[in-house]
Formats: sequence, structure tokens, C-alpha cells
Amino acid sequence: MVYLGFIAISLVFVSFEVDAKLNLRHKLLRQSPTKNESLVYQQETKNNVFKSMKILFYKNNTKTLESSASIDANIVANSGCSPSEKFAIVLHGWIQSCNDDWSLALIDRLSYYRGGCVICIDYSVIASSSYMRLYSNFERITTSIVSIILSLIKYGFDPGQAYMFGFSFGGQLASAVGRSLRPQYVLQNIDTCDMAGPGFDPITIDHSKAGKHVQCFHSSRDKGTFIHACHRNIMLGNCGLSQPSVASQLHLGSHGLCVDIYINSFDYPFYAVQPPAECTYFGTAAKIPSNYTVGYDENFNNQVLGKIFVPTSIHYPYNLSKKEVALMSRDKQ
Ligand SMILES: *[C@@H]1O[C@H](CO)[C@@H](O)[C@H](O)[C@H]1NC(C)=O
Ligand SMILES: *[C@@H]1O[C@H](CO)[C@@H](O)[C@H](O)[C@H]1NC(C)=O
Ligand SMILES: *[C@@H]1O[C@H](CO)[C@@H](O)[C@H](O)[C@H]1NC(C)=O
Ligand SMILES: *[C@@H]1O[C@H](CO)[C@@H](O)[C@H](O)[C@H]1NC(C)=O
Repeated sequence: MVYLGFIAISLVFVSFEVDAKLNLRHKLLRQSPTKNESLVYQQETKNNVFKSMKILFYKNNTKTLESSASIDANIVANSGCSPSEKFAIVLHGWIQSCNDDWSLALIDRLSYYRGGCVICIDYSVIASSSYMRLYSNFERITTSIVSIILSLIKYGFDPGQAYMFGFSFGGQLASAVGRSLRPQYVLQNIDTCDMAGPGFDPITIDHSKAGKHVQCFHSSRDKGTFIHACHRNIMLGNCGLSQPSVASQLHLGSHGLCVDIYINSFDYPFYAVQPPAECTYFGTAAKIPSNYTVGYDENFNNQVLGKIFVPTSIHYPYNLSKKEVALMSRDKQ
């Protein structure tokens, strides 16, 4: 809440500053602001955001091309990606890039298990300074990613073969991008990892509108959102609020552990349990089949919707054995 207050106050300051500059300019020009002027101003900034972004194409876990955000036929041809195949889009978070360890690890697992084309959209130029600067560009980054995806669609890529992953701020972007593409285009799968809360909570947004199947993993109380409005909301560790493994990790908080757990879920089983007694939650708990595990789920099971609780362990790779999970589960199966 303190953080949120800080952002709200900073936003007010930022808008004052911009207003003051515009007012000064208008006074100098001795005329009232025209619609055109503010449009030009917005357009410039939007173009700068767009121009600062990079797109990294991967095939079979090998980078085939790094391009600007303006995709053309040549770029598509040189990417080695065929519009007829599946494609995945990866979105990083604040002070991150497509070269972070987790980005590379996820690209690797997606290439291995999903195949097709993996595209990482790098907006690290904007993400590398203050959270405020990044946050104030949320809509511009969203619009830029939407136009990248519209270009891919224009060159034949099929939204029905799309998967998009976003971590933290990137999770909020994934949801906003998916919702902006609708109703014309519906992305098949969207997975998010500890979607950011600061600046976004407590505004209620229906994240399930972002794609056909939207799964959101939650892992932290301090940086993750409290809006759990995806088709599946996977509450990792202690009710989705913290991870037991923070104790054994110096470099990763509960927030950062979300991507590590998600990546490990490709190779290790993360079993769901009945809602633990100590977890207070709103919304409906999913009806989970026995031996149900969470993670990347290409063939989304529409029977399993709602909140899913998944305990995690202290040590890498953070999964628990089936036996331990069975002991934790309230109704012994
Ligand atoms: C706004 O800009 C457009 C193109 O830049 C121009 O044709 C138009 O006359 C301008 N309108 C006003 C009200 O200045
Ligand atoms: C993908 O990469 C792996 C390892 O580099 C290689 O063994 C395999 O042949 C490649 N597959 C294709 C289809 O290129
Ligand atoms: C779940 O796993 C147990 C032990 O591995 C097995 O005996 C059981 O048949 C499985 N249940 C289902 C529904 O697959
Ligand atoms: C994690 O999963 C692996 C593979 O199924 C299993 O061998 C291991 O025991 C699990 N980890 C823990 C801590 O139980």
C-alpha cells in the first residue's frame, strides 16, 4: 500500500510537470492548446518507445534474428519462422531484458516442449530506469506490442497458434495486449507469472478476457497483484503470497522465484492440493483431478478453472514429491 501511495503521488507530480511545461509553451504561443499539438507530442513519445524496442527471433533455441519493432516481409523471411507454425511471445519485466537468465531458460524450454517460433520482445531501454518511467509508458508499450503482433498476423501468423508469456510488469502487458487485440483476434494461450501489483492494484481487470485460455501464477505478496481474475489462478507456495525457498535463496525473492518455478514445471511435477485451511481466498477453487500438475499447458483442460493451490519446496527445483503433497492435502485421495 505504501508503494501504491508512492506511485499515486508520483503520478500526480509527473502530470503536474507535463501540464506545467505545456502551459508554459501555450502561454508563449499565446493561444489555447490545439488538439493537434498534444497529438504530435504523444505521437513522438509513442514512436520513441516503439523505436527503442527490439525483437529477438528464436528457432530450435537458436537466435536467428534480432530486428527493430517494425516488422516487414524481409524480417519475417529472415527470421526462419514460418507463419504456418506455432509461435510464442516472451515479455520480461522491470530492469530485465531478453538476455536475462530466466528469459533464455524459458526460450530453451519452450523451444524444446512447444517447438515452433519463439519471439522475445525486448523493451529493456525503457525498463532499465525507474519503475515510474516504465509505468508511465505502460500504454505506449502495450500499443507497440499490439502493432508488432498485428504485423505478425498480417504476414500470416495465426493467433490460434499463439502463446504469450509475461512476467511481473510483462504479465500486465500480456493481459493488456491480449485484451486490445480482441474482439478481432484472440490469442490461444496466455501464461503470466506474478503479474505486477504496484500501480495496477486494486483496479479490477478481467484478465480472462486477454486470451482463450489465461493462466496466472501468483507467488508474492509484495510485488504481485491481488487481482486474481484469470481462467486459472495458481497460488504457489504459501497461498500464493510467499515461497518457502526464499530461505535458501539469496538472489531471488518470492516474486522472482515465480519464473524459476514456472520454468521448472516443464520438467518436474508441481502437484495441486485441495485449498489449504490456512489460505483465505476469494473466488472459486478449481475442481482438481487426482495427480493434477500445473505449468505450461498447451491443451488447456477447460474442466479445471478457478483457484489452484500448489505447495512448493525449500530447495531447487522447488517441487514436492507426491507423497508429501498427499500428506498436505486435506482430503486424502
Ligand atoms: C492538424 O494537423 C493536420 C495534419 O498535420 C492538418 O492537416 C490540420 O489542418 C491540423 N488541424 C488543426 C486544427 O490545426
Ligand atoms: C535443434 O537443436 C538441437 C541441439 O542443438 C539439434 O540436435 C537438433 O538437430 C536441432 N533440430 C532441428 C530440427 O534443427
Ligand atoms: C495417480 O497416481 C497414483 C500413483 O502414482 C496412481 O496409482 C493413480 O492411478 C493415479 N490416478 C490417476 C487418476 O491417474
Ligand atoms: C521433484 O520431482 C522429481 C521428479 O518427479 C522427484 O524425483 C523429486 O523427488 C521431487 N522433489 C522432491 C523434493 O520431492
